[in-house]
Amino acid sequence: MNELQFLTWVRGPGLDIAVGIFLLGTVWRLFEIYTLGRGKDLAAPRRAAGASGLHTVFRRSLPPPGMLKRSPVSYIGGYIFHIGLAVIVFLGAPHIMLIANLTGLSWPGLPAQIIGLATVMTMAAMLAMLVDRINKPAKRFLSTFEDWFTWAVTFLPVLTGWMAVQHLLLPYTTMLALHILSVEILLIVLPFTKLFHVFTLFGSRWYNGSANARKGVPV
Ligand code: HEM
Ligand code: HEM
Repeated sequence: MNELQFLTWVRGPGLDIAVGIFLLGTVWRLFEIYTLGRGKDLAAPRRAAGASGLHTVFRRSLPPPGMLKRSPVSYIGGYIFHIGLAVIVFLGAPHIMLIANLTGLSWPGLPAQIIGLATVMTMAAMLAMLVDRINKPAKRFLSTFEDWFTWAVTFLPVLTGWMAVQHLLLPYTTMLALHILSVEILLIVLPFTKLFHVFTLFGSRWYNGSANARKGVPV
């Protein structure tokens, strides 16, 4: 297979397979989670200030007192790379074009230099998080294969997209094909790993918040 055939494959059948697995996997996991149900709580509900699903959704989005100082890399790095990913995917011109082709919807993007800056910041934040995970004994001890693996499948699309645009290492066509392939790996892995937090994070905070609110505990 030459590089053009590789690019044609990842853009065509490869993308179809990846999007198919992503959609089926996502529907399946959501079905699995939301049909679990919840045992009937016979106790009379209690009330406490600041105890509700919505309170927990907001409270857990900010560091608890003192934690920002103890774990600055996790909080600051985490926010930077998530915002960076969103900026790249939703405000980068090539990606907006892709969304426009798929849905007919489009909006103005940011200049290439700004997207380039967001890309470098995203990679720097993710590398800092990785180093922190390796250097902090507790974090390292708690990390499983899945943590390293999901880090890598998130990092690769950003790295290969950037390398394609910068014309680094490999011919452009090959790097672009690798970029799209790495996105396909991300799509396939997402429903079956902790990356599924994209869909479950706020729901699970709400669930924990409201279950504890019934007991009168703000969590
Ligand atoms: C609705 C959008 C999203 C929200 C609200 C969100 C929120 C979060 C939160 C709160 C964490 C920290 C979890 C913890 O420390 O226990 C986290 C970690 C992570 N997220 Fe997201 N996320 C979102 C989308 C994404 C997407 C689209 C990706 C990748 C494609 C992603 C990749 C990651 C990775 C790799 C980590 C682990 C970082 C590490 O500790 O090494 N997230 N996310
Ligand atoms: C199927 C989905 C995707 C396709 C088809 C795609 C395609 C492309 C294309 C055509 C380029 C531009 C190359 C150029 O301007 O010469 C690009 C750049 C880039 N992509 Fe993607 N992309 C996809 C998803 C993603 C995702 C999910 C991420 C991040 C997680 C990402 C990160 C990047 C980055 C960082 C760049 C370089 C941005 C810049 O410096 O301008 N891409 N992508």
